[in-house]
Amino acid sequence: MGQKRQMDRQERTLSQRDLNRREFLRTSGLGAATLIIGGTGLGTGGCGVGTLPNSSGSLVLPAQPDSPRGLAVALEVVLRATNSDTPVLTGPSTRTSTYQATVLTGEVGDASALPGSYLGPIIRARKGQRVRVRLINELSEATIIHWHGMHVPADMDGHPRYAIEPGEEYVYEFEILDRAGTYWFHPHPHRRTGPQVYSGLAGLFLVSDDEESAAGLPSGEYDVPLIIQDRQFDANNQLVYGAGIVGFDGFLGDRVLVNGQPSFNLDVATRSYRLRLLNGSNSRVYKLAWDDGTPLQVVATDGGLLETPIQRDYVMLAPGERIELWADFSAYALGSEIVLRSLPFSGGDIGMGGMMSGMMGGMMGGIGGALLPNGAELEVLRVRVETEAEATQDLPPRLSSIVRYRAEDAVNGTSPRVFAASSAMMMGWRLNGRTFEMDAVAANEIVNLNTLEMWELVNATGHMEMMHPLHIHGVQFQIMERSVLPSRAAGWETVRYGYVDEGWKDTLLLMPGERAKILLRFVDFSGAYLYHCHNLEHEDQGMMRNYLVQA
Ligand code: C2O
Ligand code: CU
Ligand code: CU
Repeated sequence: MGQKRQMDRQERTLSQRDLNRREFLRTSGLGAATLIIGGTGLGTGGCGVGTLPNSSGSLVLPAQPDSPRGLAVALEVVLRATNSDTPVLTGPSTRTSTYQATVLTGEVGDASALPGSYLGPIIRARKGQRVRVRLINELSEATIIHWHGMHVPADMDGHPRYAIEPGEEYVYEFEILDRAGTYWFHPHPHRRTGPQVYSGLAGLFLVSDDEESAAGLPSGEYDVPLIIQDRQFDANNQLVYGAGIVGFDGFLGDRVLVNGQPSFNLDVATRSYRLRLLNGSNSRVYKLAWDDGTPLQVVATDGGLLETPIQRDYVMLAPGERIELWADFSAYALGSEIVLRSLPFSGGDIGMGGMMSGMMGGMMGGIGGALLPNGAELEVLRVRVETEAEATQDLPPRLSSIVRYRAEDAVNGTSPRVFAASSAMMMGWRLNGRTFEMDAVAANEIVNLNTLEMWELVNATGHMEMMHPLHIHGVQFQIMERSVLPSRAAGWETVRYGYVDEGWKDTLLLMPGERAKILLRFVDFSGAYLYHCHNLEHEDQGMMRNYLVQA
């Protein structure tokens, strides 16, 4: 009986939903040629809601719920994903892809270009505002945008099943529920996220709120976003990506670009700055430190401000992660230079013997081949102290308040849900032995709305571990604890003091042999979200799964 009623309800929801969408299409004045996808093509080919196991032990996903509507739209932006030619190096320009933004409603500065860059734009909005973004696909392949770190309805989250074909449009509309922070957006079509991000599709979504305004951090020109990405160019200045370059490690370039620019220099005044760092690289992990030994003052992580600043000698920054630094250049003489470097660390390679690893590299297209392997030392950002500032701002002792989740409040605090990185010989990385399935979840991937859960993320199968930055869509979580296999402790020691686990996180680096317990709460929205490795090549190879929030 339960099942039949569920089916009826689902059918109603689907047709009601289609009506809503047609209505929306009319009232938002889109032409007949415009297509709004979402809610169609769902995996409802079976029947029933999360009850039919398929051959691999997974369950078919139900339809997505509708997003709530009501609040007036404060910001409406058109983002055209399009191919472009950009001068990046001296000589021939580089074929890139980019998002071109037009603000329809709101202030022009609400979607501003990243100066001199094919990356971007930077979208700025305030908590509580309603935002509409129209993605128009002018690429030659399917795409979709995901708002990394943001808490939006499932059908607004950029799941690959909503990918749109060239010429089509996807209209996002959501209220900003997240606290102030450095969020970002990038493509999420299955198997093509890596190449699309690599070609230049990535932007920042900076959310502000009252708590942040009250914190007293440097703002305006003293608040600087820095997107760090490694790239490789051929003799003709074209980006290199593909077979032979993408190995077991994913893609590792031979040079670092900041904000899409090679040899990026940040010219500063003798005062304090807020530096918002995003690791937008496909696979490279950085261990960041100032070259003069000045400790880093960390003020924010993925999900916004920490409670108080935290001092570190170095910080780890894995693909997808953000970290914000308060950096004070007031004591430096004019003309001095300070360099943010990535320091060497170990454990970035597969935990196998050298011979085995070399063999594997050959077969997978070259792990040993990277000119600059993960863990190699490199220069990331050169800061030049150029002008005298009249005043500076002190580091605020208190930044925000964070409500701590408690393990005893979790519905499964004594038996966390385990998600383990695993690999199938020569067939890529998996999660709990499963590869990505567009329309399915496994029984252990269904959680209940309005519950706090404990998850244990594991990268310790005992062989062939490598770094995996694991990312969960739709939530910000809190990290409770980490541990490592004794056999991999030596590598871990070279990175562990650079973790900043005190704040809100959506991406967590797991080194070889490492495991972590996290607490996360599912609120507001039911539907299917993703969790995956944010090494984009691992993700594209299937190290991604759905999880279902069930009302
Ligand atoms: Cu930044 Cu699913 O990704
Ligand atoms: Cu995400
Ligand atoms: Cu991975």
